Amino acid sequence: MNKDDLYGAKAIADSMQTQWIGQNIRFYEKVDSTNLRAKLEAEKGAESGTLIVAECQTAGRGRRGRVWNSPHGANLYFTLILKPKFAPDKASMLTLVMALAVVRGMEQAMEAEEVVAEPVSDASEKSAFPKIKWPNDIVWNDRKVCGILTEMSVQQGVQNRISHVLIGVGINVYQQEFPPELAKKATSLETECGRRISRSKLLADIMQAFEKYYDIFREAESLAGLKKLYNQKLVNCSREVRVLDPKGEFMGIATGINDVGELCVTLADGSTIEVYAGEVSVRGICGYV
Ligand code: BTN
Repeated sequence: MNKDDLYGAKAIADSMQTQWIGQNIRFYEKVDSTNLRAKLEAEKGAESGTLIVAECQTAGRGRRGRVWNSPHGANLYFTLILKPKFAPDKASMLTLVMALAVVRGMEQAMEAEEVVAEPVSDASEKSAFPKIKWPNDIVWNDRKVCGILTEMSVQQGVQNRISHVLIGVGINVYQQEFPPELAKKATSLETECGRRISRSKLLADIMQAFEKYYDIFREAESLAGLKKLYNQKLVNCSREVRVLDPKGEFMGIATGINDVGELCVTLADGSTIEVYAGEVSVRGICGYV
């Protein structure tokens, strides 16, 4: 049985405080993947802002072809369908907008004040709040609590026009036990904060934050208006990182994102490299974060 029994299309709709996102919610007990379902619905004409939510996924998908562990009754799995008018090369930044919204939604669902400047901590210190691991993982105490998978389709035969963007989000909310390969890397909100969080409220709080940040993003078609906030919530900020670039691995100190969401890394010789998320991943020097 679910730990929060007020979960489903009605409970989510009742919690939603948005203007246009989530006016249309399609809730499934079981799907292969909310991103795959969202693709079908977007192609059939689902409007921008439609949310596809599932109680469990039989083929949950992660980035780089990985599987997303998606047990029943424990977590949040959803995909937001957007049909934006901006150029396709801007779409990857939406992942960072969503990461920011997820962290803000988590803070709100845990009834916390907005955290804008938690002091930069030592990697070994426990954090009171989840943070962003660039570009789009949410981590808490060095373990992953959320992943985001953004996929885009462009219009057939029309150059430079987006058909739809699908932002899929998986959040470990109650899950206590993970498969052996994830046991040391994953955690859940309940494990870290020691309290039960309503999944409906969490989803509604994330969507409210996303709507606000999306407006700021759309206005500039960049992350210029969001990067300060993003960098305040960035676990990598001011920490040593190892950049796993296919052209060669290197180390440096991460100083935050730029207007287009690249991670700025200062090297030992004082020069700065801007790292593009599509090509590389970043690790802390002592492990995942
Ligand atoms: C990652 O960190 O690798 C991204 C994980 C994204 C998982 C979510 S769960 C909801 C949506 N549907 C999917 O199949 N994947 C995303």
